[in-house]
Amino acid sequence: MAIRRTPPPAAVIAVALLALASIAAAEVYFEETFEYGWENRWVKSDWKKDENMAGDWNYTSGKWNGDPDDKGIQTAEDYKFYAISAEFPEFSSKNKALVLQFSVKHEQKIECGGGYVKLLSGQVDQKNFSGETPYSIMFGPDICGYTTKKVHAILSRNGTNHLIKKDVPCETDQLTHVYTLIIRPDATYTILIDNEEKQSGSIYSDWNILPPKKIRDPNATKPEDWDDKEYIPDPEDKKPEGYDDIPKEIPDPDAKKPEDWNDEEDGEWTAPTIPNPEYKGPWMPKKIKNPNYKGKWKAPMIDNPDFKDDPDIYAYSNLRYIGIELWQVKAGSLFDNILICDDPEYAKKFAEETWGKHKDAEKAAFDEAEKKREEEENKDLDSDIDDDEEVDDSETEADADADSDSDTKSESDVKEDKEQPQEDKEKPHEENEKPHDEL
Ligand SMILES: *[C@@H]1O[C@H](CO)[C@@H](O)[C@H](O)[C@H]1NC(C)=O
Ligand SMILES: *[C@@H]1O[C@H](CO)[C@@H](O)[C@H](O)[C@H]1NC(C)=O
Ligand SMILES: *[C@@H]1O[C@H](CO)[C@@H](O)[C@H](O)[C@H]1NC(C)=O
Ligand SMILES: *[C@@H]1O[C@H](CO)[C@@H](O)[C@H](O)[C@H]1NC(C)=O
Repeated sequence: MAIRRTPPPAAVIAVALLALASIAAAEVYFEETFEYGWENRWVKSDWKKDENMAGDWNYTSGKWNGDPDDKGIQTAEDYKFYAISAEFPEFSSKNKALVLQFSVKHEQKIECGGGYVKLLSGQVDQKNFSGETPYSIMFGPDICGYTTKKVHAILSRNGTNHLIKKDVPCETDQLTHVYTLIIRPDATYTILIDNEEKQSGSIYSDWNILPPKKIRDPNATKPEDWDDKEYIPDPEDKKPEGYDDIPKEIPDPDAKKPEDWNDEEDGEWTAPTIPNPEYKGPWMPKKIKNPNYKGKWKAPMIDNPDFKDDPDIYAYSNLRYIGIELWQVKAGSLFDNILICDDPEYAKKFAEETWGKHKDAEKAAFDEAEKKREEEENKDLDSDIDDDEEVDDSETEADADADSDSDTKSESDVKEDKEQPQEDKEKPHEENEKPHDEL
Protein backbone atom coordinates (compact mmCIF):
# COMPACT_ATOMS: atom_id res chain seq x y z
CA MET A 1 0.00 0.00 0.00
CA ALA A 2 1.52 3.27 -1.08
CA ILE A 3 1.22 6.38 0.93
CA ARG A 4 1.32 9.77 -0.62
CA ARG A 5 4.68 11.37 -0.32
CA THR A 6 3.88 14.31 -2.56
CA PRO A 7 1.76 17.00 -0.91
CA PRO A 8 -2.02 16.50 -1.22
CA PRO A 9 -4.32 19.03 -2.93
CA ALA A 10 -4.46 22.61 -1.74
CA ALA A 11 -7.77 22.21 0.06
CA VAL A 12 -6.32 19.56 2.34
CA ILE A 13 -3.19 21.57 2.94
CA ALA A 14 -5.32 24.48 4.11
CA VAL A 15 -6.98 22.27 6.71
CA ALA A 16 -3.88 20.68 8.12
CA LEU A 17 -1.14 23.07 7.26
CA LEU A 18 0.86 22.67 10.44
CA ALA A 19 0.85 18.89 10.54
CA LEU A 20 1.80 18.65 6.91
CA ALA A 21 4.52 21.24 7.23
CA SER A 22 6.53 18.96 9.47
CA ILE A 23 5.78 15.93 7.33
CA ALA A 24 6.71 17.74 4.15
CA ALA A 25 10.02 18.51 5.79
CA ALA A 26 10.69 14.85 6.49
CA GLU A 27 13.63 13.39 4.68
CA VAL A 28 12.76 9.91 3.47
CA TYR A 29 15.82 7.85 2.64
CA PHE A 30 14.01 4.66 1.80
CA GLU A 31 10.38 3.67 1.59
CA GLU A 32 9.35 0.25 0.37
CA THR A 33 5.73 -0.78 0.12
CA PHE A 34 6.50 -3.65 -2.26
CA GLU A 35 4.53 -2.41 -5.21
CA TYR A 36 5.47 -3.35 -8.75
CA GLY A 37 9.15 -3.31 -9.51
CA TRP A 38 10.24 -4.33 -6.01
CA GLU A 39 12.29 -7.16 -7.49
CA ASN A 40 14.49 -4.61 -9.22
CA ARG A 41 15.15 -2.89 -5.93
CA TRP A 42 15.94 -5.99 -3.89
CA VAL A 43 18.83 -8.39 -4.37
CA LYS A 44 18.59 -11.97 -3.16
CA SER A 45 21.90 -13.13 -1.80
CA ASP A 46 23.58 -16.32 -2.96
CA TRP A 47 24.43 -17.11 0.65
CA LYS A 48 23.75 -20.80 1.50
CA LYS A 49 22.64 -21.45 -2.06
CA ASP A 50 25.25 -24.11 -2.76
CA GLU A 51 24.18 -25.98 0.39
CA ASN A 52 20.58 -25.75 -0.80
CA MET A 53 19.78 -23.90 2.42
CA ALA A 54 18.84 -20.54 0.89
CA GLY A 55 15.14 -19.84 1.32
CA ASP A 56 13.03 -18.15 -1.30
CA TRP A 57 10.43 -15.43 -0.81
CA ASN A 58 6.77 -15.36 -1.76
CA TYR A 59 5.27 -12.10 -2.97
CA THR A 60 1.90 -12.12 -1.25
CA SER A 61 -0.57 -10.44 1.07
CA GLY A 62 -0.69 -13.64 3.11
CA LYS A 63 -3.45 -15.99 4.14
CA TRP A 64 -5.29 -13.25 6.03
CA ASN A 65 -5.01 -9.58 5.26
CA GLY A 66 -6.82 -6.27 5.22
CA ASP A 67 -6.33 -5.84 1.48
CA PRO A 68 -5.43 -8.68 -0.89
CA ASP A 69 -3.66 -6.22 -3.20
CA ASP A 70 -1.35 -4.98 -0.47
CA LYS A 71 1.53 -7.40 -0.78
CA GLY A 72 4.84 -7.83 0.93
CA ILE A 73 7.54 -10.46 0.90
CA GLN A 74 7.13 -13.62 2.95
CA THR A 75 9.66 -16.30 3.84
CA ALA A 76 8.47 -19.26 1.79
CA GLU A 77 10.26 -22.44 2.89
CA ASP A 78 10.86 -24.09 6.25
CA TYR A 79 14.37 -24.70 7.63
CA LYS A 80 16.09 -22.12 5.46
CA PHE A 81 18.37 -19.14 5.68
CA TYR A 82 17.14 -15.90 4.17
CA ALA A 83 19.20 -12.97 2.97
CA ILE A 84 17.90 -10.15 0.82
CA SER A 85 18.83 -6.49 0.68
CA ALA A 86 18.10 -3.19 -1.04
CA GLU A 87 20.30 -0.19 -1.66
CA PHE A 88 19.43 3.48 -1.20
CA PRO A 89 21.36 6.72 -1.68
CA GLU A 90 23.98 6.87 1.04
CA PHE A 91 23.26 9.20 3.95
CA SER A 92 24.54 10.13 7.39
CA SER A 93 22.34 10.50 10.44
CA LYS A 94 24.60 13.10 12.03
CA ASN A 95 22.61 15.95 13.59
CA LYS A 96 19.38 14.21 12.64
CA ALA A 97 16.95 11.72 14.00
CA LEU A 98 17.15 8.28 12.47
CA VAL A 99 13.90 6.36 12.15
CA LEU A 100 13.83 2.72 11.09
CA GLN A 101 10.41 1.16 10.73
CA PHE A 102 8.84 -1.91 9.16
CA SER A 103 5.98 -4.32 9.64
CA VAL A 104 6.14 -8.05 10.02
CA LYS A 105 3.41 -10.67 10.28
CA HIS A 106 4.35 -14.16 11.48
CA GLU A 107 1.57 -16.16 9.86
CA GLN A 108 3.25 -19.44 10.73
CA LYS A 109 2.74 -19.25 14.51
CA ILE A 110 6.46 -18.77 14.77
CA GLU A 111 8.39 -21.03 17.15
CA CYS A 112 11.94 -20.15 16.25
CA GLY A 113 12.94 -17.46 13.83
CA GLY A 114 13.98 -13.88 13.46
CA GLY A 115 11.78 -11.06 12.23
CA TYR A 116 14.32 -8.26 12.19
CA VAL A 117 16.04 -6.04 9.66
CA LYS A 118 19.56 -4.66 9.40
CA LEU A 119 20.95 -1.32 8.31
CA LEU A 120 24.31 -1.61 6.63
CA SER A 121 26.94 0.99 5.87
CA GLY A 122 29.57 1.46 3.23
CA GLN A 123 30.09 -0.95 0.41
CA VAL A 124 28.31 -4.31 0.55
CA ASP A 125 28.37 -7.06 -2.04
CA GLN A 126 24.64 -7.74 -1.96
CA LYS A 127 25.00 -11.11 -3.66
CA ASN A 128 27.25 -12.10 -0.76
CA PHE A 129 25.09 -10.57 2.00
CA SER A 130 25.01 -13.03 4.90
CA GLY A 131 24.95 -13.48 8.63
CA GLU A 132 28.64 -12.59 8.57
CA THR A 133 28.22 -9.24 6.85
CA PRO A 134 28.93 -6.45 9.34
CA TYR A 135 25.96 -4.19 9.98
CA SER A 136 25.35 -0.88 11.73
CA ILE A 137 21.97 -1.53 13.32
CA MET A 138 19.93 -4.65 13.76
CA PHE A 139 16.36 -4.13 14.86
CA GLY A 140 13.19 -6.16 15.25
CA PRO A 141 11.58 -9.16 16.90
CA ASP A 142 13.27 -12.48 17.53
CA ILE A 143 11.46 -15.55 18.81
CA CYS A 144 12.91 -18.90 19.77
CA GLY A 145 11.25 -21.38 22.07
CA TYR A 146 9.82 -20.14 25.33
CA THR A 147 12.77 -18.06 26.38
CA THR A 148 13.47 -15.68 23.50
CA LYS A 149 10.62 -13.36 22.65
CA LYS A 150 12.21 -10.01 22.35
CA VAL A 151 12.90 -6.99 20.23
CA HIS A 152 16.55 -6.82 19.29
CA ALA A 153 18.10 -3.39 19.11
CA ILE A 154 21.76 -3.93 18.38
CA LEU A 155 23.97 -0.93 17.72
CA SER A 156 27.32 -1.60 16.15
CA ARG A 157 30.22 0.67 16.98
CA ASN A 158 33.77 0.36 15.75
CA GLY A 159 33.26 -3.29 14.89
CA THR A 160 31.54 -4.28 18.12
CA ASN A 161 27.86 -5.17 18.30
CA HIS A 162 26.14 -3.89 21.41
CA LEU A 163 22.83 -5.36 22.53
CA ILE A 164 20.30 -3.21 24.30
CA LYS A 165 20.45 -3.88 28.02
CA LYS A 166 16.73 -3.43 28.59
CA ASP A 167 14.20 -6.12 27.91
CA VAL A 168 11.74 -5.27 25.15
CA PRO A 169 9.17 -8.04 24.63
CA CYS A 170 7.92 -8.51 21.08
CA GLU A 171 4.52 -9.48 19.70
CA THR A 172 4.01 -13.21 19.31
CA ASP A 173 0.64 -13.52 17.57
CA GLN A 174 -0.08 -14.10 13.87
CA LEU A 175 -1.01 -10.53 12.95
CA THR A 176 0.90 -7.66 11.37
CA HIS A 177 2.84 -5.44 13.78
CA VAL A 178 4.87 -2.34 13.13
CA TYR A 179 8.28 -2.01 14.76
CA THR A 180 9.88 1.42 15.02
CA LEU A 181 13.29 2.46 16.29
CA ILE A 182 14.04 6.16 16.72
CA ILE A 183 17.55 7.40 17.54
CA ARG A 184 17.92 11.13 18.20
CA PRO A 185 20.91 13.48 18.10
CA ASP A 186 20.58 14.02 21.87
CA ALA A 187 21.49 10.33 22.19
CA THR A 188 18.01 9.31 23.30
CA TYR A 189 16.05 6.54 21.67
CA THR A 190 12.52 5.17 21.54
CA ILE A 191 11.22 1.77 20.50
CA LEU A 192 7.59 1.55 19.44
CA ILE A 193 5.35 -1.33 18.46
CA ASP A 194 2.20 -0.39 16.54
CA ASN A 195 2.92 3.28 17.25
CA GLU A 196 2.97 2.68 21.00
CA GLU A 197 6.09 3.39 22.96
CA LYS A 198 7.57 0.23 24.51
CA GLN A 199 10.96 1.44 25.65
CA SER A 200 12.97 4.63 25.68
CA GLY A 201 15.99 6.15 27.34
CA SER A 202 19.57 7.11 26.70
CA ILE A 203 22.03 5.32 24.47
CA TYR A 204 24.67 6.06 27.11
CA SER A 205 22.90 4.05 29.78
CA ASP A 206 20.95 1.40 27.85
CA TRP A 207 23.86 0.10 25.77
CA ASN A 208 27.41 -0.50 26.92
CA ILE A 209 28.85 1.30 23.92
CA LEU A 210 30.90 3.58 26.11
CA PRO A 211 31.97 2.94 29.67
CA PRO A 212 29.57 4.54 32.17
CA LYS A 213 30.00 8.27 32.84
CA LYS A 214 29.84 7.79 36.60
CA ILE A 215 31.07 4.93 38.73
CA ARG A 216 31.26 4.20 42.43
CA ASP A 217 34.65 5.30 43.70
CA PRO A 218 36.63 2.05 43.94
CA ASN A 219 39.09 3.70 46.33
CA ALA A 220 36.53 4.97 48.81
CA THR A 221 36.32 3.15 52.13
CA LYS A 222 33.62 3.12 54.73
CA PRO A 223 34.34 5.80 57.38
CA GLU A 224 35.18 4.38 60.79
CA ASP A 225 32.25 6.14 62.42
CA TRP A 226 29.72 5.07 59.81
CA ASP A 227 26.91 3.47 61.77
CA ASP A 228 25.26 0.89 59.53
CA LYS A 229 23.39 -1.03 62.22
CA GLU A 230 19.71 -0.55 61.60
CA TYR A 231 18.63 -1.98 64.98
CA ILE A 232 20.36 -1.85 68.36
CA PRO A 233 19.57 -3.32 71.79
CA ASP A 234 17.26 -1.00 73.73
CA PRO A 235 19.47 0.57 76.47
CA GLU A 236 16.32 1.24 78.52
CA ASP A 237 15.35 -2.40 78.63
CA LYS A 238 16.33 -4.05 81.94
CA LYS A 239 16.51 -7.69 82.85
CA PRO A 240 13.50 -8.46 85.10
CA GLU A 241 14.34 -9.42 88.67
CA GLY A 242 14.72 -13.14 89.17
CA TYR A 243 14.81 -13.82 85.42
CA ASP A 244 17.86 -16.05 85.68
CA ASP A 245 16.29 -18.08 88.50
CA ILE A 246 13.64 -19.54 86.19
CA PRO A 247 14.73 -23.14 85.54
CA LYS A 248 14.85 -24.51 82.04
CA GLU A 249 13.11 -27.72 83.10
CA ILE A 250 10.72 -28.60 85.88
CA PRO A 251 9.43 -31.88 87.31
CA ASP A 252 6.35 -33.01 85.45
CA PRO A 253 3.46 -32.01 87.77
CA ASP A 254 1.23 -34.66 86.18
CA ALA A 255 3.65 -37.51 86.81
CA LYS A 256 2.63 -39.92 89.53
CA LYS A 257 4.74 -42.34 91.47
CA PRO A 258 3.82 -45.79 90.17
CA GLU A 259 1.73 -47.92 92.53
CA ASP A 260 4.31 -50.67 92.65
CA TRP A 261 7.26 -48.34 93.29
CA ASN A 262 9.42 -49.73 96.07
CA ASP A 263 11.55 -47.02 97.61
CA GLU A 264 13.92 -49.56 99.08
CA GLU A 265 14.52 -51.48 95.93
CA ASP A 266 14.00 -48.79 93.35
CA GLY A 267 15.46 -45.82 95.18
CA GLU A 268 13.66 -42.57 95.90
CA TRP A 269 11.12 -41.77 93.19
CA THR A 270 11.57 -38.49 91.37
CA ALA A 271 9.19 -37.16 88.76
CA PRO A 272 10.60 -36.95 85.22
CA THR A 273 11.31 -33.39 84.05
CA ILE A 274 9.61 -31.48 81.24
CA PRO A 275 10.53 -28.13 79.57
CA ASN A 276 9.44 -25.23 81.74
CA PRO A 277 6.79 -23.16 79.91
CA GLU A 278 7.93 -20.13 81.94
CA TYR A 279 11.50 -20.39 80.68
CA LYS A 280 12.19 -17.91 77.83
CA GLY A 281 15.89 -18.51 77.20
CA PRO A 282 18.78 -16.25 78.09
CA TRP A 283 17.69 -12.67 78.59
CA MET A 284 18.10 -10.29 75.66
CA PRO A 285 17.15 -6.66 75.64
CA LYS A 286 14.57 -5.89 72.99
CA LYS A 287 15.76 -4.22 69.80
CA ILE A 288 14.93 -0.72 68.73
CA LYS A 289 15.63 1.33 65.60
CA ASN A 290 19.10 2.82 65.83
CA PRO A 291 18.72 6.61 65.97
CA ASN A 292 22.25 6.99 64.55
CA TYR A 293 21.64 4.64 61.62
CA LYS A 294 23.07 6.19 58.47
CA GLY A 295 21.91 3.60 55.98
CA LYS A 296 23.99 1.01 54.15
CA TRP A 297 27.27 2.48 53.12
CA LYS A 298 27.93 2.82 49.42
CA ALA A 299 30.96 4.32 47.78
CA PRO A 300 30.16 7.76 46.38
CA MET A 301 29.68 8.21 42.64
CA ILE A 302 32.58 9.84 40.85
CA ASP A 303 33.36 10.66 37.25
CA ASN A 304 34.64 7.52 35.59
CA PRO A 305 38.25 8.18 34.56
CA ASP A 306 37.81 5.62 31.73
CA PHE A 307 34.89 7.49 30.21
CA LYS A 308 35.71 9.38 27.07
CA ASP A 309 32.65 10.92 25.52
CA ASP A 310 31.81 10.30 21.91
CA PRO A 311 29.31 13.04 21.04
CA ASP A 312 28.51 11.13 17.83
CA ILE A 313 27.43 8.05 19.73
CA TYR A 314 23.98 8.29 18.05
CA ALA A 315 25.24 8.98 14.53
CA TYR A 316 25.78 6.61 11.63
CA SER A 317 27.60 7.71 8.53
CA ASN A 318 27.48 5.97 5.13
CA LEU A 319 24.18 4.19 5.70
CA ARG A 320 23.39 2.63 2.39
CA TYR A 321 21.56 -0.72 2.57
CA ILE A 322 18.66 -2.34 4.30
CA GLY A 323 18.81 -6.09 4.64
CA ILE A 324 16.74 -8.95 5.97
CA GLU A 325 18.90 -11.83 7.10
CA LEU A 326 17.17 -14.62 8.99
CA TRP A 327 17.13 -18.25 9.92
CA GLN A 328 13.62 -19.69 10.07
CA VAL A 329 12.52 -23.10 11.30
CA LYS A 330 9.03 -22.53 10.00
CA ALA A 331 8.49 -20.05 7.20
CA GLY A 332 5.71 -17.50 6.89
CA SER A 333 7.07 -14.16 8.14
CA LEU A 334 5.74 -11.40 5.92
CA PHE A 335 7.65 -8.11 5.75
CA ASP A 336 6.15 -4.90 4.42
CA ASN A 337 6.23 -1.11 4.57
CA ILE A 338 9.88 -0.57 5.33
CA LEU A 339 10.72 3.05 6.06
CA ILE A 340 13.95 4.85 6.81
CA CYS A 341 13.60 8.57 7.44
CA ASP A 342 14.53 11.36 9.82
CA ASP A 343 11.08 12.23 11.10
CA PRO A 344 9.20 10.23 13.78
CA GLU A 345 5.95 12.04 12.93
CA TYR A 346 6.19 11.02 9.31
CA ALA A 347 6.84 7.43 10.37
CA LYS A 348 3.88 7.48 12.70
CA LYS A 349 1.62 8.68 9.93
CA PHE A 350 3.08 6.17 7.51
CA ALA A 351 2.25 3.38 9.96
CA GLU A 352 -1.27 4.69 10.44
CA GLU A 353 -1.90 4.86 6.71
CA THR A 354 -0.56 1.39 6.02
CA TRP A 355 -0.89 -1.03 8.95
CA GLY A 356 -3.41 1.19 10.76
CA LYS A 357 -5.82 1.23 7.84
CA HIS A 358 -5.86 -2.53 7.43
CA LYS A 359 -5.43 -3.94 10.90
CA ASP A 360 -9.12 -4.36 11.75
CA ALA A 361 -9.94 -6.06 8.46
CA GLU A 362 -6.87 -8.25 8.89
CA LYS A 363 -7.96 -9.26 12.39
CA ALA A 364 -11.44 -10.10 11.11
CA ALA A 365 -9.95 -12.18 8.29
CA PHE A 366 -7.68 -13.94 10.76
CA ASP A 367 -10.58 -14.72 13.12
CA GLU A 368 -12.53 -16.08 10.16
CA ALA A 369 -9.58 -18.25 9.08
CA GLU A 370 -9.17 -19.54 12.64
CA LYS A 371 -12.86 -20.39 12.84
CA LYS A 372 -12.64 -22.33 9.61
CA ARG A 373 -9.52 -24.13 10.78
CA GLU A 374 -11.18 -25.14 14.05
CA GLU A 375 -14.28 -26.34 12.21
CA GLU A 376 -12.10 -28.43 9.93
CA GLU A 377 -10.30 -29.91 12.90
CA ASN A 378 -13.56 -30.73 14.66
CA LYS A 379 -14.91 -32.29 11.48
CA ASP A 380 -11.85 -34.53 11.33
CA LEU A 381 -12.30 -35.44 14.96
CA ASP A 382 -16.02 -36.16 14.42
CA SER A 383 -15.36 -38.46 11.49
CA ASP A 384 -12.73 -40.28 13.54
CA ILE A 385 -15.34 -40.84 16.20
CA ASP A 386 -17.95 -42.00 13.69
CA ASP A 387 -15.54 -44.65 12.50
CA ASP A 388 -15.46 -46.16 15.93
CA GLU A 389 -18.82 -46.34 17.66
CA GLU A 390 -17.41 -47.64 20.90
CA VAL A 391 -15.34 -44.54 21.37
CA ASP A 392 -15.67 -42.69 24.65
CA ASP A 393 -14.23 -39.55 26.13
CA SER A 394 -11.00 -41.08 27.26
CA GLU A 395 -10.26 -42.40 23.78
CA THR A 396 -10.97 -39.02 22.28
CA GLU A 397 -8.40 -37.60 24.61
CA ALA A 398 -5.96 -40.26 23.51
CA ASP A 399 -6.60 -39.13 19.97
CA ALA A 400 -5.78 -35.61 20.95
CA ASP A 401 -2.61 -36.84 22.65
CA ALA A 402 -1.58 -38.67 19.54
CA ASP A 403 -2.08 -35.45 17.61
CA SER A 404 0.09 -33.50 19.95
CA ASP A 405 2.86 -36.04 19.49
CA SER A 406 3.80 -34.37 16.28
CA ASP A 407 3.98 -31.04 18.11
CA THR A 408 6.33 -32.50 20.62
CA LYS A 409 8.55 -33.76 17.88
CA SER A 410 8.73 -30.41 16.20
CA GLU A 411 9.55 -28.82 19.53
CA SER A 412 12.58 -30.98 20.01
CA ASP A 413 13.52 -30.10 16.47
CA VAL A 414 13.30 -26.51 17.50
CA LYS A 415 15.59 -27.16 20.41
CA GLU A 416 18.18 -28.57 18.09
CA ASP A 417 17.76 -25.73 15.69
CA LYS A 418 18.25 -23.34 18.50
CA GLU A 419 21.83 -24.40 18.67
CA GLN A 420 22.02 -23.15 15.14
CA PRO A 421 23.20 -19.73 14.22
CA GLN A 422 20.21 -17.55 15.02
CA GLU A 423 20.64 -16.98 18.70
CA ASP A 424 24.27 -17.81 19.06
CA LYS A 425 25.21 -15.80 16.09
CA GLU A 426 23.52 -12.70 17.41
CA LYS A 427 24.11 -13.26 21.08
CA PRO A 428 27.44 -11.92 20.74
CA HIS A 429 30.73 -12.64 22.12
CA GLU A 430 30.39 -9.02 21.05
CA GLU A 431 29.02 -8.03 24.40
CA ASN A 432 31.45 -9.47 26.84
CA GLU A 433 31.43 -6.69 29.38
CA LYS A 434 29.31 -7.22 32.43
CA PRO A 435 26.67 -4.59 33.14
CA HIS A 436 28.23 -1.76 35.07
CA ASP A 437 27.09 -0.95 38.51
CA GLU A 438 25.90 2.48 37.72
CA LEU A 439 23.62 3.45 40.54
C1 LIG B 1 4.99 -19.91 -0.87
O1 LIG B 1 4.41 -20.19 -2.13
C2 LIG B 1 4.43 -21.57 -2.49
C3 LIG B 1 3.90 -21.66 -3.92
O2 LIG B 1 2.66 -21.02 -4.01
C4 LIG B 1 3.62 -22.35 -1.50
O3 LIG B 1 3.67 -23.71 -1.81
C5 LIG B 1 4.18 -22.13 -0.10
O4 LIG B 1 3.38 -22.78 0.85
C6 LIG B 1 4.24 -20.65 0.22
N1 LIG B 1 4.90 -20.47 1.51
C7 LIG B 1 4.27 -20.03 2.57
C8 LIG B 1 5.08 -19.91 3.81
O5 LIG B 1 3.10 -19.71 2.58
C1 LIG C 1 31.59 -12.97 1.29
O1 LIG C 1 31.41 -12.57 2.66
C2 LIG C 1 32.27 -13.24 3.55
C3 LIG C 1 31.87 -12.84 4.97
O2 LIG C 1 31.69 -11.46 5.09
C4 LIG C 1 33.70 -12.89 3.23
O3 LIG C 1 34.57 -13.57 4.11
C5 LIG C 1 33.99 -13.30 1.79
O4 LIG C 1 35.28 -12.89 1.45
C6 LIG C 1 32.99 -12.70 0.84
N1 LIG C 1 33.16 -13.25 -0.48
C7 LIG C 1 33.28 -12.48 -1.55
C8 LIG C 1 33.43 -13.22 -2.83
O5 LIG C 1 33.27 -11.26 -1.51
C1 LIG D 1 35.22 4.65 17.49
O1 LIG D 1 36.50 4.89 16.95
C2 LIG D 1 36.77 6.25 16.69
C3 LIG D 1 38.09 6.33 15.99
O2 LIG D 1 39.05 5.55 16.62
C4 LIG D 1 36.77 7.01 18.02
O3 LIG D 1 37.01 8.36 17.82
C5 LIG D 1 35.40 6.83 18.68
O4 LIG D 1 35.39 7.43 19.95
C6 LIG D 1 35.03 5.38 18.82
N1 LIG D 1 33.67 5.30 19.27
C7 LIG D 1 33.26 4.39 20.14
C8 LIG D 1 31.83 4.46 20.49
O5 LIG D 1 34.00 3.54 20.60
C1 LIG E 1 42.40 4.46 42.95
O1 LIG E 1 43.67 4.56 43.53
C2 LIG E 1 44.73 4.18 42.67
C3 LIG E 1 46.01 4.20 43.47
O2 LIG E 1 46.14 5.42 44.13
C4 LIG E 1 44.78 5.13 41.47
O3 LIG E 1 45.81 4.76 40.59
C5 LIG E 1 43.45 5.06 40.76
O4 LIG E 1 43.41 6.02 39.72
C6 LIG E 1 42.31 5.34 41.72
N1 LIG E 1 41.06 5.11 41.04
C7 LIG E 1 40.14 6.06 40.88
C8 LIG E 1 38.94 5.67 40.11
O5 LIG E 1 40.22 7.17 41.34
